[in-house]
Amino acid sequence: MSLIDDLEALETQAKERIAEASTQEKLEAARVALLGRKGELTGLMRMMGKLDQAERPVVGKRANEVRAAVEGLLESRIAEMKQEATRARLAAEAVDVTLPGARPAIGHQHLIHQIIEEAEDIFTGIGYTVESGPQVETTYYNFTALNAPMDHPSRSARDTFYVVDNNPGGVSHPEAHAHGESDVILRTQTSGVQVHVMERQKPPIYMICPGSVYRPDTADACHLPQFNQIEGLVVDEGITFGDLKGTLDYFVKQMFGEERKTRYRPHFFPFTEPSCEVDVSCHICGGKGCPFCKHSGWIEILGCGMVDPNVLVNCGIDPERYSGFAFGIGAERVAALRYDLPDLRTLMTGDMRFLNQF
Ligand code: DAH
Repeated sequence: MSLIDDLEALETQAKERIAEASTQEKLEAARVALLGRKGELTGLMRMMGKLDQAERPVVGKRANEVRAAVEGLLESRIAEMKQEATRARLAAEAVDVTLPGARPAIGHQHLIHQIIEEAEDIFTGIGYTVESGPQVETTYYNFTALNAPMDHPSRSARDTFYVVDNNPGGVSHPEAHAHGESDVILRTQTSGVQVHVMERQKPPIYMICPGSVYRPDTADACHLPQFNQIEGLVVDEGITFGDLKGTLDYFVKQMFGEERKTRYRPHFFPFTEPSCEVDVSCHICGGKGCPFCKHSGWIEILGCGMVDPNVLVNCGIDPERYSGFAFGIGAERVAALRYDLPDLRTLMTGDMRFLNQF
């Protein structure tokens, strides 16, 4: 076989090797094997010395052509590999800018605050203002001004969280000073806000006050140590029990639907006379009686009554001229009733699977 044939064979073989090289390392190995100092082409060229003088230029020319061809093949394979790598990278890093972005999870109001806002809408719609008052309160505002006798059982530490418990010489609340009382508590009801409002505002008063209240109860399905009330107070000339009933019936129908009935049951509260509790007809059985309403057909949602004249006097309002009514609605009760909640604790534990339903 002549050197020319060997060169032809080398070129053919080089084409295959270069085309087959799948990585840069394999391509480099092929280059060294073909063109390197100990490579095949170099080997063939070394043998040129043994050729006839006449043959040399022909074979030399061919050898140079083969070298140039192999170098060309290597170069274009390298370029091809770079392109492939770029294409692979672009594919891997591709971003579809037309895809909608990942939306941040936006929170929403807690069910109890939705209920409170709804109550605010209902009452502001009939001319009431929305007031607020302190959650850390003196016994004067929470009990005494509200006509609760000093020995009223709800004043005991079993029913009230004391912050400052009758500490002589350790009076810490300026308002307590003013009223000669030193006890500071977490309010057990929003009714004290009635007193704050009557102290700072003359009648006519049409107000509600939603807010947290606290009682030392162990949390169970029907009790929470912290819950929410929506207090209401109306003081004006000529206010009667008929106004109370019309207003609360209106509230119940707005909150629960036109078909709901109300029942006014006599009750006792120190700050109202007469007083009653209001029941709403059970939504499960429609009033016929079922386990949810303990077979009574009714569910209690609020306390109310005509403001006791003593409370008006305590707040500097003339009971001969003015009369009024008050009420306190349990916000969690309303939520439980509207959504058939089996356990009030679910409102406090922050389980999003529960809360996201509302
Ligand atoms: N404060 C009462 C309670 O916590 C609820 C209540 C009853 C509020 C009668 C009132 C009222 O304003 O007139 O049980």
